[in-house]
Amino acid sequence: MELNRRTVIAGAAAAGLAATTLGTGTAEAAGGKTPSKKLFGKLADGTKVYIWSLANGGTKLKVLSWGGVVQSLEIPDRHGHLANVSLGFDNIEDYVAKTPYFGALIGRYGNRIGKGQFTLDGKSYQVSVNDGVNSLHGGTQGFDKHVWDVEPFTKGSDVGLHLHYTSIDGEMGYPGTLKVKVTYTLDKHGSWTIDYEATTDKATVVNLTSHVYWNLAGEGSGTIEDHELQIAAARYTPTDTGLIPTGELAKVSGTPFDFRKSKAVGRDIRAGHVQQIQAKGFDHNWVLDKGITAKPEHVATLREPRSGRTLKIATDQPGLQFYSGNFLDGTLTGTGGSVYRQGDALCLETQHFPDSPNQPSFPTTTLRPGQTYRTRTVHTFGS
Ligand code: GLA
Repeated sequence: MELNRRTVIAGAAAAGLAATTLGTGTAEAAGGKTPSKKLFGKLADGTKVYIWSLANGGTKLKVLSWGGVVQSLEIPDRHGHLANVSLGFDNIEDYVAKTPYFGALIGRYGNRIGKGQFTLDGKSYQVSVNDGVNSLHGGTQGFDKHVWDVEPFTKGSDVGLHLHYTSIDGEMGYPGTLKVKVTYTLDKHGSWTIDYEATTDKATVVNLTSHVYWNLAGEGSGTIEDHELQIAAARYTPTDTGLIPTGELAKVSGTPFDFRKSKAVGRDIRAGHVQQIQAKGFDHNWVLDKGITAKPEHVATLREPRSGRTLKIATDQPGLQFYSGNFLDGTLTGTGGSVYRQGDALCLETQHFPDSPNQPSFPTTTLRPGQTYRTRTVHTFGS
């Protein structure tokens, strides 16, 4: 064991990596309760990217200063065995060059804006287009592709990180300098809470989210089709072929999109519904029954039957994008050395509806000077 550990560390050092990036779950590797940082790698211009390790209540989290990326999230199964349940890479180069948003913070506008265009207070804006003719996840250089300032904290029995990023007026075409603060908190029960806060100096649009790719059997362990999913939503937003909502809030009843009662993700994934064919699976926004709420309310439960691991999501947001990892195509090698194929993970992104700036009937995503954008999503784990 001791020998293996030393071998791993020597190997990591030879590869120019921080040894903790290869940690597999000892208390020391997670840095105990107080967040600690190590060098993860360097950007082409020499900027250092750090990896922060924190642990609490049985959950171990590793976060990069690059994009606020959750590089690893370990939780126990019903026998207490830890596994990293979040897809990622073991090196900064892959995060910079090829990540499909693994674990990242997404902004300024999570999800899509049709043609990257919208009008706000009578003024037209063209934002960065990076998904066919549309803008996805903030454009070519969204919040996931920047170094964030990270500040650790401990508060009572909580441990966490404050992540700061300032997006200047005009960045990616968006109006207003947006000051963003995201807080990751692990509580003594091992729950992971994300608090998002933002202010602006000009009217703008904001839709922040987190893009963790979940596989509760462990990253690299194969398909998520046997994961059972429940979403408290009677409607979803059908899209056009570019995955821009048509504006309709369609009923899930009688369709493969009905997850009101827990069912295996794979049960209806090949049902041949036109919406699934054009999205290559599930890649839609569910209209949460509870709507926008002052406090987070339970909206989804994911369960992996073999390990018994469960994830419960509560949010104050009105929508949940459920993406079944359709674009993973066997070209990326993950943290543990396995190749990721289609359906090897799924995302549950709490957010406002896609393309809201162009859909007057959708809840607004406009933020004005003097207002504070504030939202919270809580992830509770069990087994
Ligand atoms: C989101 C989108 C998907 C896809 C992924 C990243 O979940 O809805 O269509 O772009 O991000 O690959």
